Amino acid sequence: MIKVAFYDAKAYDMPSFEKYGKLHDVQFRFLETKLNEDTVELAKGYDAVCVFVNDSVTKTVIDRLYEMGVKLIALRSAGYNNVDIRSAFGKVHVVHVPAYSPYAVAEHAIALLLTSVRRIHKAYNRTREFNFSLNGLTGFDLHGKTVGVIGTGRIGRIFIDICRGFGMNVIAYDYYPAKDSGIEYVTLDELFMRSDIISLHCPLTDETRHIINDEAIGKMKKGVVIINTSRGGLIDSEALLDGIKARKVGAACLDVYEEEADIFFEDRSGHIMNDELLSRLISMPNVIVTSHQAFLTEEALNNIAETTVNNIVSCFEKDGMCDNELCYRCGNIEHCKKERKERCF
Ligand code: NAI
Repeated sequence: MIKVAFYDAKAYDMPSFEKYGKLHDVQFRFLETKLNEDTVELAKGYDAVCVFVNDSVTKTVIDRLYEMGVKLIALRSAGYNNVDIRSAFGKVHVVHVPAYSPYAVAEHAIALLLTSVRRIHKAYNRTREFNFSLNGLTGFDLHGKTVGVIGTGRIGRIFIDICRGFGMNVIAYDYYPAKDSGIEYVTLDELFMRSDIISLHCPLTDETRHIINDEAIGKMKKGVVIINTSRGGLIDSEALLDGIKARKVGAACLDVYEEEADIFFEDRSGHIMNDELLSRLISMPNVIVTSHQAFLTEEALNNIAETTVNNIVSCFEKDGMCDNELCYRCGNIEHCKKERKERCF
């Protein structure tokens, strides 16, 4: 029996993790609290911890996990910017779920885009009050518009396919352009200058932090629609708010927010919102915020649980490498898996 402390557990996580855990003799203890320096002690006596996007897995947390004999940090997400991979190397293995339903995220980005440009959110509220006026609901056709996609990995490519179905022109920027993909790659500046809509599908790294900032917004077309379903830190939220107030940014569709860790995933409707910036963004008529729900489909939840349990089992039972291990030293996970065929340490 492998014992796992499951941090930041939500009701929607439990059924699928319980199901796959039972099949493979993995026992989860579901904890409502997030993992951080104050809560790391709860992992005492466990073989592994299972964490999500807003758990804070710093060097201090990792060192304490190591001291307590915890062998594995199993991320149940694709992104891993909240884990200090460098500090974990040689101490605690780290695995993630590289893909669970890229369709879920790409489709959510499209849902946000359509909602925004056709004012569905406003129409929904109006008709519930029997207000059938169309004033102020004029949208625009997506057909013929240019969408700039930053990051053409699993999610970005599906997003591009959907956009093509709408008859949009697609341009893209990626650090590693996909060869023979038929995608028109341009420089970041050109993407900013030509796009009517910009959608972010790259990871949050030192290079991509605030990739959308004052300077970038300055280069964009007036009325640009910005979609972020990747990580909040890709956008400098102050700059975005300024761009909206200056009428430069036509709309923003945000599933993620830089300071979301202590806000998202919880019902805060009865509380005073302390984050002035988020309050201001939400108050804008042309901003739609969802609380990091792009992944939240039945298919994705099942795939996340199945892959996470497989990752955990492979790390404890196989002599070989952990499936989906994140290795700081190899840097490139694909390369690591292909070349090493063994545990990273
Ligand atoms: P992926 O790894 O398949 O693709 C990422 C792409 O970004 C790659 O093509 C890579 O070359 C590119 N990239 C890396 N550094 C870059 C840079 N500096 N500039 C431009 N492009 C760069 O990842 P996938 O599965 O498509 O996921 C993308 C992101 O979506 C994840 O990093 C994660 O943050 C986010 N995500 C959000 C979810 C949500 O619920 N909102 C759920 C799942 C993922």
